[in-house]
Amino acid sequence: MNKLIDNTVAFVKEKLEGAEAGHDWFHIERVWKLSEKIAETEICNREVVALAALLHDIADPKFHNGDETIALKISGAFLESQNVPEEVIGQVLFIIKNISFKNRGEVPQNLPVELKIVQDADRIDAIGAIGVARTFNFGGFKNNLMYHPDIEPKLNMSKEEYKKSDGTTINHFYEKLLLLKDLMNTEKGKEIAQERHDFMLKFLDQFYKEWNVD
Ligand code: ADP
Ligand code: NI
Repeated sequence: MNKLIDNTVAFVKEKLEGAEAGHDWFHIERVWKLSEKIAETEICNREVVALAALLHDIADPKFHNGDETIALKISGAFLESQNVPEEVIGQVLFIIKNISFKNRGEVPQNLPVELKIVQDADRIDAIGAIGVARTFNFGGFKNNLMYHPDIEPKLNMSKEEYKKSDGTTINHFYEKLLLLKDLMNTEKGKEIAQERHDFMLKFLDQFYKEWNVD
């Protein structure tokens, strides 16, 4: 038993009480498990991986008026209260700050392996059957359209095109989910992502077939 991890689990569960179903405690738990699975195949600091996985969505800017600093403040204060060494706190906060898909491109080179692991795990939970479910749940939460037949979905849409497309849930696959497989950092991550990617392609095929009553 690791008291620090237990306390972190309890803290995160409490903080995420009532969160949207795609970003709730169960998302965190899956990312934590996936991170541990990937960590088994890498040389890394397991404690940093676990803490970062547990704290990575503690205050998503999407649900906090775009504030990107709040998660770092909450996590930093929590880890200090647990007397976690400064160096470990620094490593965990660096991961939380740089993990996000939307901040890709601004992220420094030579990423620490612990960040690569948790980022892969978070991205893997965004694809496959769980990815489909989370995405439609989020779209419903935002009251977005599932799909619009006048808007042709395509890969690599610009933010402008995406806005024009009314942000349908199906478009989110092309904007983000189908790109994730090629952004995996680790070998284990690539392997898991491939299977889930293939499932999404099948899902989309079937979706269009049923939409068009083919
Ligand atoms: P990140 O934190 O990696 O930038 P997000 O938190 O924006 O990613 O997205 C996490 C998940 O939330 C997505 O994988 C998806 O399931 C859902 N999501 C985010 N934006 C949208 C959207 N516009 N439409 C549907 N689902 C979305
Ligand atoms: Ni996440």
